[in-house]
Amino acid sequence: PVHFKFKLPALRAETLVGGGKKRIDKQHEKGKLTARERLDILLDKDSFREYDAFVEHRCTSFGMDKQHIPGDGIITGHGLINGRLAYLFSQDFTVFGGSLSEEHAKKMCKIMDKAVLVGAPVIGLNDSGGARIHEGVDSLAGYAEVFQRNVSTSGVVPQLSVIMGPCAGGAVYSPAITDFVFMVKNTSYMFVTGPDVVRAVCHENVTQEELGGSKAHTMKSGVAHFAYENDIETLMKVREFFDFLPLSNRESVPVRYTEDSRFRQDAILDTIVPLDPNKPYDMRDIIHRLVDDSHFFEVMPDFARNIVVGFGRMEGKTTAFVANQPKELAGCLDINASKKGARFVRFCDAFHIPIVTLIDVPGFLPGTDQEWNGIISNGAKLIYAYAEVTVPKIAICVRKSYGGAYCVMSSKHLRGDMNYSWPTGEIAVMGAKGAVEIIFRGQDLKKAEADYTEQLCNPLPACKRGFIDDVIIPSTTRTRICEDLEVLKNKKLDNPWKKHGNIPL
Ligand code: COA
Repeated sequence: PVHFKFKLPALRAETLVGGGKKRIDKQHEKGKLTARERLDILLDKDSFREYDAFVEHRCTSFGMDKQHIPGDGIITGHGLINGRLAYLFSQDFTVFGGSLSEEHAKKMCKIMDKAVLVGAPVIGLNDSGGARIHEGVDSLAGYAEVFQRNVSTSGVVPQLSVIMGPCAGGAVYSPAITDFVFMVKNTSYMFVTGPDVVRAVCHENVTQEELGGSKAHTMKSGVAHFAYENDIETLMKVREFFDFLPLSNRESVPVRYTEDSRFRQDAILDTIVPLDPNKPYDMRDIIHRLVDDSHFFEVMPDFARNIVVGFGRMEGKTTAFVANQPKELAGCLDINASKKGARFVRFCDAFHIPIVTLIDVPGFLPGTDQEWNGIISNGAKLIYAYAEVTVPKIAICVRKSYGGAYCVMSSKHLRGDMNYSWPTGEIAVMGAKGAVEIIFRGQDLKKAEADYTEQLCNPLPACKRGFIDDVIIPSTTRTRICEDLEVLKNKKLDNPWKKHGNIPL
């Protein structure tokens, strides 16, 4: 028998029940799991190693001196996801509403510091009533300490936030700084100020769900990247997503065994792009045919659908895809698409994930809404991101690549490593119809259009200048990408020294 000088087993048992059975039942009634149940699903069996289970708050105001629950509303530690290390915190809503106290924040900070030290991602499961009201400025200081670490950690290890309950007020800014935000449909919400304040200040009547539920953030604001039906599905998706990520900026991308050969040729690709330039198709069909085992994990699938971003694997290695989507807004770039693309590209660069860009873009979206809301500085974000990255960049023009959007989408001039076109590529200042209406006004437009198409609306002018390295047969694209990724795997490119650049935010 082990010798104890204090009642460890009893204390340990106390840490496991959090705020007690009644509050756990209430959590379950809402369709939510407890903080520990969530960790059990997210992590490999028996892999969780908890820290600070006995930490308690030190607040004595408002009767808090009589209320002590070990752990102080948050469970922290490390564990494995498919055998790979992650640091985690899981807020326990049954303990003071999962609210953030000074000690609660210190536990978060401790695992973030460890994650950076050893180089492993941080995953936060958020379910909290916000700042611990009893503690005043101590809890606000706690938030700020967390924010500082979110920023310092950004680009060092991936940071994932999973919103599984309330996340309001200052609490929202930690997830906002992290790389990817998951939400649970109907049981999670995020807002800076809740419906009551919105009603009082703005005279707007909105429900919690309308204001900050998963639909609001995955479709309208772009704050969240993913939303799933319930806690279990969300956590299983986090596991799947985690498998694509390198553990830190010191490591290369993870490799997964596949039987999918680099030589697989998909003949459907040879005719997948319609000959009629105005006919839409789903760009994701192309991506699915290129990646290993058709497995593509789309990021932000419901926001700015005119650009598709996400991860697949090529010969087992994580590869990022950025692609215009002709099915939405004809694939135009707009403010939201530019922001979505730019942030994704920068994440990939920070973690050495090569980027494959598939291009079918008729230009930037016109209109007062776009201009007045800053398409100029927002579009510039995507240019900045593509121009700054040093990871391998392979681009394939599958159809249109017009005007300024040609420059943006991983062009040769933004240090694209390999730039291809399919035979259906049209690389020009604009489409034939619009072009001839401007330059051949009053002349035989039918003939002019045919001439323009033959001379300028194809990949040849770009090939002749070396801006396109080759025109490839679509069904050979997978092979070419795999070969190029191998050739480029030791690519070394450094940007000039600077403290940091000044991306037009
Ligand atoms: N500080 C301290 N305790 C808090 C808290 C906070 N910020 N938020 C919730 N709690 C406690 C509640 O007192 C309650 O305690 P109890 O179980 O001992 O009764 C418990 O957490 C659950 O809260 P409850 O209000 O019953 O849950 P709910 O699901 O009905 O509502 C919230 C959840 C988050 C909407 C609600 O608790 C709330 O509005 N909290 C305050 C949010 C806020 O303004 N935070 C500060 C700004 S950052």
